[in-house]
This record gives sequence, C-alpha cells and structure tokens, in this order.
Amino acid sequence: MLISTASSLSAAPPPVERVSGLAQPDFIELHHENPGAVRAELVAGLLAPQAFTSPKYLYDGLGSRLFEAITELPEYYPTRTEAGIFKAHADAMAQRLPAGATLVDLGAGNCAKAAGLFAAFNPARYVAVDISTGFLRRSLGALQAQYPQLPMLGVCMDFSSSLSLPPDAGAGRRVLFYPGSSIGNFTPDEALVFLRQARAACEGGGLLIGVDLLKERALLEAAYDDALGVTAAFNRNLLLHLNRLAGSDFSLPDWRHVAFFNEAASRIEMHLEAVRAVVVGWPGGERHFAAGERIHTENSYKWHQRDFARLLLDAGFSSTQAWTDDRGWFAVFWAGA
Ligand code: AVI
Repeated sequence: MLISTASSLSAAPPPVERVSGLAQPDFIELHHENPGAVRAELVAGLLAPQAFTSPKYLYDGLGSRLFEAITELPEYYPTRTEAGIFKAHADAMAQRLPAGATLVDLGAGNCAKAAGLFAAFNPARYVAVDISTGFLRRSLGALQAQYPQLPMLGVCMDFSSSLSLPPDAGAGRRVLFYPGSSIGNFTPDEALVFLRQARAACEGGGLLIGVDLLKERALLEAAYDDALGVTAAFNRNLLLHLNRLAGSDFSLPDWRHVAFFNEAASRIEMHLEAVRAVVVGWPGGERHFAAGERIHTENSYKWHQRDFARLLLDAGFSSTQAWTDDRGWFAVFWAGA
C-alpha cells in the first residue's frame, strides 16, 4: 500500500496547482493498474457464451465526458431528479446525521454533489473515494482551496469489488454518501453484498444513497436510448477502450447500441449488437460474432421503494427513511447503522 500525503508528495511534481499557505488534502492510494489482469478479464468476458464486459470499462476519459453529457439530456431524468430531492430535503436529511460525522463520498468524481451539501450537513471531515487518482487529486485540491478549514482525505480505490476503507478514512462516525443510483449497476445479490460492507463501514453512523425507482417502460427506455445518440456513443466508445486495453480490433461501424427494459429482471440492459457477421481478434485469440449477436455491457436495475428499504434492512441497517420527488421517480434513502 502506498500512502501519499501532501508532505510526502512535495518532492514529486505537484498533481494540482498549489498556492503556498493553503491546506492540502491527504491521499491514500490503494488501487494500482494491472494491465495483464485487465486483459485476461476482458478476454474471458468476450469468450463467454453470452459475451459481456463490466460496466466499469465504459468510463475511460471520453466515456466519463460522455456520461457527463448524458446527465444533461432531457431524457435522462435521474441526475436532475436526485438533485431536486437533495435541494428540497437537505435540512431534513441533516437531522439524521450524527454530529461531527465524517462524510465519505463513494465515487466522488468532481466532488460537486457532496460539496453542495456541506452547508446543510456541516461534516467534521470529508473523505472522497474514487478509482481515478488524477481526477480525484485535481477535484479535491480545488475543493480544499474553497473549504480550507474542512479536513479532507482522498482515497483512490476500486470499491466495487470490496469496500474496506482504510482506518484513516474517518475513525469516528462515518456517513457514507453514494448518490447517482450507481447501486443500480449491481445485481440485487451484488447490491446486498455491497450494502453489508457499507453497513460494516459506518457503525454508529449511516448511509445516504440514491436509488432509481421503477417506472413506465417508455420513460426508462428513452433515458437509455436518447434522440441525440449520446448514450449510443457512450456504449460504442467502450469498443475503442477495449481495443486499447485488450489489443482487440473492434470496428465501430460493425456494432450498434441496443437498450431495452427487461421487465422480469426489473432492469435496463445495454448491449452492443453486431450489425453483420464479424470476426474480432486480439493477441492470442479471436471470436466470431454472428449478425445480431450481442455483447452485454451494462445493467441498470430499477427498484420498488419498499423492496430497496427491505434490502437495506437485510444488509443489517437498523432504520430507513426515504425522500422522493413528486412523481415518485427517484428516492434518496437514509439508512441508520
Ligand atoms: C452510473 N449509472 C448509475 C448510470 C445508470 O443510469 O445506470 C450509467 C448510465 N448508463 C447509461 N446511461 C447512464
């Protein structure tokens, strides 16, 4: 484990512009790229009877920017609906938080959602967790300059596989913050495992989590297949990322974006579908795809509010409260630990 702090970094080129005299956040790096393991994982998915890739590979630099663009689309309701819920109910949510809590932001990205709640939540410490070190360092460095009195820590880790936070990430009461309905990208079984780990990480505190709720098929399908084609670009860009990571030779014109609501599983599925018979190769292997054959790239589960409350209790949380928008499209849950 490499622990880098502001002082230990002073000998290396600074990752963010520094202004002398200003506080700098500390950093802990727990994630290190392993290109061989990534290649092996991708090839195993491509060779599976139903080819698949993990949704995390949707987020290279361009993929992350395309996702940001998705959140601005008229059809993609989750981001703005959740923001409306936070705006309307931040003070009520703050009542639930223990005094002097450490706010732990899971998948912090640009840290903007959590920062928007600092005034209402008044945390004693802010811990931003993300897989992307460079981006996190820049975001947190800028945020620390805006809030010099608030102690901040960046933790670079892939918490999708295991959420074991380092002890430095808030020894007192933690409030885990997991907005954006990213929990929907886990299967219900995976979500339960994740929530159990979250429960263990916030003894005496709790979890504040955004969850997308079940709604009419047409609304769901439009949100994942927008008229401008941004979601299609987001999905197809995965192939360019795979070509770089696995050395494959996917050709974009051979593949189209497919998104539909699978009612039995209560999830949106995203796939890439071969528009003609193609052979895709990579160092040491290849796969023939028939016309119409698909690669499954993402699930986005849509929950009944009562079922998600039950899941939180099953994960070991002792109490739950939810705030929703007027249309009942999205919920933010507080789960007390
Ligand atoms: C990040 N995640 C919650 C998004 C979702 O809605 O499942 C990812 C996404 N995929 C397509 N559009 C947005």
